[in-house]
Amino acid sequence: MTMDRRQALTQIIGISGAAAGSVLLANPVLAATATEEGWTLAVGDRLAYTKLDPYAVALAAYKAGNGCMYQVFHGLISSLAQSDSPDAAKFAQIPTAMAHYGYAGILGEGSVCGNVNATGMLFNLLSINGNPANGYLTRVLRYYEQETLPLRDDAFLDAIGANTDELKAKVGQPSVAGSVLCHSSITNWARLNGKTAADKGERCSELSASIAYQIVVILNKAMDGEDLTGIGDMTDSVGSCKTCHSKSDSFGPSVMSNMECDTCHGGH
Ligand code: HEC
Ligand code: HEC
Repeated sequence: MTMDRRQALTQIIGISGAAAGSVLLANPVLAATATEEGWTLAVGDRLAYTKLDPYAVALAAYKAGNGCMYQVFHGLISSLAQSDSPDAAKFAQIPTAMAHYGYAGILGEGSVCGNVNATGMLFNLLSINGNPANGYLTRVLRYYEQETLPLRDDAFLDAIGANTDELKAKVGQPSVAGSVLCHSSITNWARLNGKTAADKGERCSELSASIAYQIVVILNKAMDGEDLTGIGDMTDSVGSCKTCHSKSDSFGPSVMSNMECDTCHGGH
């Protein structure tokens, strides 16, 4: 760091000497402006994804706590910050605390699930072999809608350290969300298990670990150029609705959505 920059920062933040250095390390926003590159994330920036261990990322997400959106976003970003990505140092400067707002369907509103919200926030800044990751979002969302979650297999539960009778009893039976909404995800789970939304803590925490796991599975395959057919495909039902109800429809009200239509509309 040059004297000039250090002096300028000292004046700006009103502290001196060693204290300035420790604040810079502790504060990702300030740290980002103070690196050699002077880098901060700008709209359109892409950081390079590199293949990760899905179980290790599931554990990072599980341990992150602080709600579903933070778990998924911080779990992935902190893993990439420690990876061999050429952009690891930039990942380390992303203020993941921004993702906290998404808990329980955005500050407890039960609207868009934080797992879904986090995936969008993440994919919008990732590149896969130089290409935007955005196109893979739909697979994560379809997986989220259709799969029976959280994952219950021993390999997964062992990896996150949740393979105990006590924690399994808290989660109960896994369930299908059928929607990208926090509300239907939690209510379907609560109904199936005779629990209430107030009991959701462990279940939602393991759900976020499951989505973090699946994000890595999908992006690793994408890195390898593998065919993703069979993981988070759009259902035939939605596909058929979309043959008529698309963005450019003029015969009826225009529809722009990949969500599971049947959750809200019957057929006709
Ligand atoms: C073969 C083309 C076609 C397919 C496939 C199709 N729709 Fe439609 N849909 C229409 C047309 C045409 C209308 C009438 C539009 C109007 O008159 O305003 C309509 C109207 C609707 C409406 C509003 C009126 C109503 O009936 O409630 C909804 C909701 C709807 N469709 C949902 C769906 C869903 C969900 C699916 C898939 C399960 C689907 N549609 C599949 C052509 C189609
Ligand atoms: C989360 C619930 C939800 C989902 C999922 C959903 N819709 Fe809708 N849709 C609505 C609501 C709410 C309206 C507005 C209805 C109103 O105000 O009359 C609407 C309106 C429509 C209309 C116009 C209806 C009319 O009477 O004019 C069509 C057509 C439609 N949706 C098709 C679809 C299709 C196709 C899908 C799947 C790709 C889909 N919707 C997914 C909730 C949903």
